Amino acid sequence: MPDEKVLVTRSSMPSYEEYIEAIKPLWDTHWLTNMGKYHKDLESKLKSFLDVPELSLTVNGHMALELAIQAFNFPEGSEVITTPFTFISTTHAIVRNRLKPVFCDVKESDGTIDESKIEELITEKTVAIIPVHVYGHVCSVEAIEQIAYKYNLKVIYDAAHAFGVSYKGKGIANYGDAAIFSFHATKVFNTIEGGAIGFKEHSLYEKIFNLKNFGIRGEELVVEVGANAKMNEFCAIMGLCNLKHLPDAINDRKRICDRYDENLKAIKGIRLLKGSASASRNYAYYPILITDEYYTSRNEVYEMLKANNIFLRKYFYPLTSDQACFKNKYKHLELNIAKRLSSQILVLPLYEGLEDEKIDMITNLLHH
Ligand SMILES: Cc1ncc(COP(=O)(O)O)c(C=O)c1O
Repeated sequence: MPDEKVLVTRSSMPSYEEYIEAIKPLWDTHWLTNMGKYHKDLESKLKSFLDVPELSLTVNGHMALELAIQAFNFPEGSEVITTPFTFISTTHAIVRNRLKPVFCDVKESDGTIDESKIEELITEKTVAIIPVHVYGHVCSVEAIEQIAYKYNLKVIYDAAHAFGVSYKGKGIANYGDAAIFSFHATKVFNTIEGGAIGFKEHSLYEKIFNLKNFGIRGEELVVEVGANAKMNEFCAIMGLCNLKHLPDAINDRKRICDRYDENLKAIKGIRLLKGSASASRNYAYYPILITDEYYTSRNEVYEMLKANNIFLRKYFYPLTSDQACFKNKYKHLELNIAKRLSSQILVLPLYEGLEDEKIDMITNLLHH
């Protein structure tokens, strides 16, 4: 048993000296927020890193999604097709915009929305599709685009897990009308708290700028109703530092995933999800499915590892549609696959620096 707890994730950080050196200039300028120098610098670096024409930084991924939805001015009560196999933020962002989520089932292979089941959910009230690139697995973007085009719907991707992922050689935020990222402390790339909206239409930049900064366009001018969702300079500097180390961080995550792959391949009853071969990987998560062929249940595995000081996550269980605040409130068809995945899912520890011995300890326990 490891001496200290092994948690499912641990935040990547630059060295203490590097961060302290980087934030020093703030004591000269006293400029801590309001789209400062470092906000601008990170926005421009991320635009090129993520290979997307336009990008707007936000205070977190959730507000990025709320504002991305709000930017399209959908009529109150409109329907949005989405997936319940996600973090609660996706569904909250829809509901907090006074729209109705309509839950669609997901695919067995990778956990993303099942595009073959979207059309039957479309009604005259449908205005958008909000799919999730869950665990960094890219949704069937071409099929979704065709459906959206046919029915004149907007597509906003929740790409909170898909930082740095490209599909067919293009940054993931080039797909759909907008895509949001989360830079939360637990993500592949973090700014402590933070997020961004990536998109192609330049006019959206101004709209989102208003929504994230109270609609202020001059000392005496407020042009629309907006929130405060700006990223501050300390967070932007953390992002600039972490971005420098990102290639190493991703390489190290690959080492861990490769070792899990190797150690787990012979275990009967443990299944892995598989993303598209046309997409790059960011090694954000290592989800496994404890199927009926395994000798015991998902919950038993969770408890057994916990008793050994290893803390996995049932990420995503329950489905968002089953949470107390949403249960029986919104329409959906059968969600059989989503329910099954949710009842079998476990996410293994994965973070920069996770030692080989700990990986082996975890997989040995799974070998039982
Ligand atoms: C799928 C998904 N959407 C949205 C979010 C919200 O991001 P944040 O925590 O940065 O607000 C998360 C965060 O964990 C997420 O996993």
